[in-house]
Amino acid sequence: MKYLEEMQENDIDGVVAVIESHDEDDADEAAAGFRSIGGCMDMYVLRHEGKIIGVTGFSTPPGCDQTHWLSWTYVHDDYTNQGFGRKMLIELIDHLKKQQGRMLFVKVSDYIDEDADNEEDGAIYAAALHLYQSLGFKIELTHPDYYDEGESQICLGLRLSDTPAMIADIDIAKEDVGVQFNSVFEIAETDGAYTFGWDDEGEQVFSQEDVTIGLDNVREQKGRIVFISFPSNYNGIKEPLLAAGFKESGKLHNYYEDGIHDQHYTYKL
Ligand SMILES: CC(C)(COP(=O)(O)OP(=O)(O)OC[C@H]1O[C@@H](n2cnc3c(N)ncnc32)[C@H](O)[C@@H]1OP(=O)(O)O)[C@@H](O)C(=O)NCCC(=O)NCCS
Repeated sequence: MKYLEEMQENDIDGVVAVIESHDEDDADEAAAGFRSIGGCMDMYVLRHEGKIIGVTGFSTPPGCDQTHWLSWTYVHDDYTNQGFGRKMLIELIDHLKKQQGRMLFVKVSDYIDEDADNEEDGAIYAAALHLYQSLGFKIELTHPDYYDEGESQICLGLRLSDTPAMIADIDIAKEDVGVQFNSVFEIAETDGAYTFGWDDEGEQVFSQEDVTIGLDNVREQKGRIVFISFPSNYNGIKEPLLAAGFKESGKLHNYYEDGIHDQHYTYKL
């Protein structure tokens, strides 16, 4: 790589300072991740005059064909709007393309900091959204009230591979897979958004009653909203979810592989 360098353990403090220049909570969370085993893997730093001023990287979800998520991407607040973020992302995207990456996704919040001096400064993720879209990312889905009441999550996707553009809706044969829930938990970084953990090793698909039991559990824990998603080629998932009151809330196209999307469902309590 030309500008980015692989992040090493002794870069952690410098990287955390970059994130801290924007958000202390994010910095704490990122620090814990970097300090765990393999926490700096696939992360990169950008140095300017010897000092770390930027960080970016990616993660690779299991069970997908060359799909990646953009990880912590920050430029120190003293150095923003000078082209460093664009330079980092162009190089990272190029790197993923060279290693046969197929899709790159990223999540952004639409949080507005009400304490900021003006509306533009308050829209702290607006620059990120602008930058991603200018690099070719397309908005795939928006989840209202995701992080908190009034704060949405926006997911964007970029096709990395040169093979035909988004095959958005090719028909992939449905599969009979036994899907069962195994837990109910609050989603990290959210205030009151829950999901159900699941595995696909069962004999049959969960029933409407199973969904209702999960929802009652969330209600007991005072959850606000439930988000869940499944591969679009799994048979018999949609019916019990919709019967229990979930709504389809969009999909990440070609997430698992071309033609197999990540179909999202939402239930507002
Ligand atoms: C997003 C971030 C990494 C961009 O880094 P950067 O070095 O400032 O990026 P660049 O200077 O290359 O580009 C910034 C672009 O945003 C634009 N921009 C700046 N403020 C903006 C705003 N309030 N609304 C819309 N666009 C804005 C700039 O004009 C520039 O676009 P251009 O190149 O088309 O003129 C940096 O702003 C940052 O660390 N933000 C906080 C953390 C964050 O949001 N991370 C992403 C979380 S998913």
